[in-house]
Amino acid sequence: MRRTAVSPTGIERTFADHEIIVTKTDMKGLLTYANDVFLRLSVFDEDEVIGKPHNIIRHPEMPRVVFKLLWDTLREGREIFAYVVNMASDGAEYWVLAHVTPSRDASGRIVGYHSSRRRPDRAAVTAIKELYARLRAEERRHRSPSEGLDASYRMLQDELAARGRTYEQFVFDLTLGASAQPGTAPNARPIPVTRDNRPNTGPPLPAAGPANAGRITTNARNRKPVKVVKNVTSGRKA
Ligand SMILES: Cc1cc2nc3c(=O)[nH]c(=O)nc-3n(C[C@H](O)[C@H](O)[C@H](O)COP(=O)(O)O)c2cc1C
Repeated sequence: MRRTAVSPTGIERTFADHEIIVTKTDMKGLLTYANDVFLRLSVFDEDEVIGKPHNIIRHPEMPRVVFKLLWDTLREGREIFAYVVNMASDGAEYWVLAHVTPSRDASGRIVGYHSSRRRPDRAAVTAIKELYARLRAEERRHRSPSEGLDASYRMLQDELAARGRTYEQFVFDLTLGASAQPGTAPNARPIPVTRDNRPNTGPPLPAAGPANAGRITTNARNRKPVKVVKNVTSGRKA
């Protein structure tokens, strides 16, 4: 349990290739769901996180500009893929490749957000660490946080423009490029891609709806498998 301010220990935690870290939030980014993988890696009990802001696992070395991109994109109703390092309640860190999407109700209205995260390739983490360190240094160099954010936003845009890529394309390049060169990292492995050649970070949790009625899913609240029986929310088809 995180009782006092925690500092990063520099100890890195990893998780298995087949595991997916899942959380859901309301419109303000307050946690409404966290799966067991999230709780295990972040070293929290479920009742410590539900209702709390998602920045409960924010790592101080994450550039603020990445979260600006995340929120700008989600508020436009679009999904985003991003590399993120998180900090557990014991100060350990874990890197993820996150796929964050708006969740919609039956009428298409955004009712919250959903993140599924996979273990990233080491080579991609090495490359993104270098970029994030420069963005974070730029943010800290300025007197006010807003000036720092503007400066790192410009730095990121300039770097992407020099490469002729958007942030999304840059993330895909890293993800697919790293996996396209087996042997670039000890644990290099193919990352599955979707039909339009995007990294496939795995399926979202099954929406509770008729199509899933009777399916077994996991309820992190009591950590027991439960059956989906009611149409509580229904996600739009991807
Ligand atoms: C669905 C969803 C998932 C998120 N996942 C993370 C996460 O894994 N780590 C993180 O630091 N922030 C995550 N965020 C962003 C946080 O809400 C927050 O913007 C970020 O931690 C920066 O916090 P700060 O503004 O206090 O610096 C997520 C937001 C949403 C909506």
